[in-house]
Amino acid sequence: MTVKYEKEGEMHMSGGATVWFTGLSGAGKTTVCRLVEEKLASAGIPVERLDGDVVRQQLCADLGFSREDRFRNIERVAYVAKLLTRNRVIVLASFISPYRSMRDYVRREIAPFIEVYVKCSLEECIRRDGKGLYRKAINGEIAHFTGISDPYEEPEQPELVVDTERETEDASATKVVEYLVARGYIH
Ligand code: PPS
Ligand code: MG
Repeated sequence: MTVKYEKEGEMHMSGGATVWFTGLSGAGKTTVCRLVEEKLASAGIPVERLDGDVVRQQLCADLGFSREDRFRNIERVAYVAKLLTRNRVIVLASFISPYRSMRDYVRREIAPFIEVYVKCSLEECIRRDGKGLYRKAINGEIAHFTGISDPYEEPEQPELVVDTERETEDASATKVVEYLVARGYIH
């Protein structure tokens, strides 16, 4: 059965997909995801957001930032995202997910899977430092901090790159929505 969602006079549909936002802390993953969520929700499309900072207070409250714990974090999130995706939800997942192999794992688990690289230089993330975490990491108060004392492996072939240093967050979000429309994930 085809389910249609009606809002603001327009009919929109989605067959479900996971849009996976990867990037450094402070690159803009959460912000861009929120804006995409707003745009999709206002068009009546079923959407759920999964975010590292939120998930780590609930579902993954027992996990830290070692390589092993980061993998466990992503595995649990992938499980939830998979369930939602197969129920025709657009899942917006914002996780640093620093290892290529963990992102490839999610890609194998979920279809359709769209990897979005939220690109921003480390220098700019340090300059922004919205949560004061970079300062602490540089001072040695936080261990295993991505980009400072822990690796970040840049995506090699992401479906989409949004550059938050060179475009507004709204422009980045619009690019994501346009991609989803162009590829027929929402219509
Ligand atoms: S991961 O690597 O995908 O498991 O990380 P994620 O679940 O996305 O969690 C990232 C958020 O945790 C905060 N934080 C840290 N990030 C990186 N390294 C260390 N050591 C760390 N400690 C705490 C930080 O607020 C991250 O949120 P974002 O939104 O990425 O800034
Ligand atoms: Mg965030």
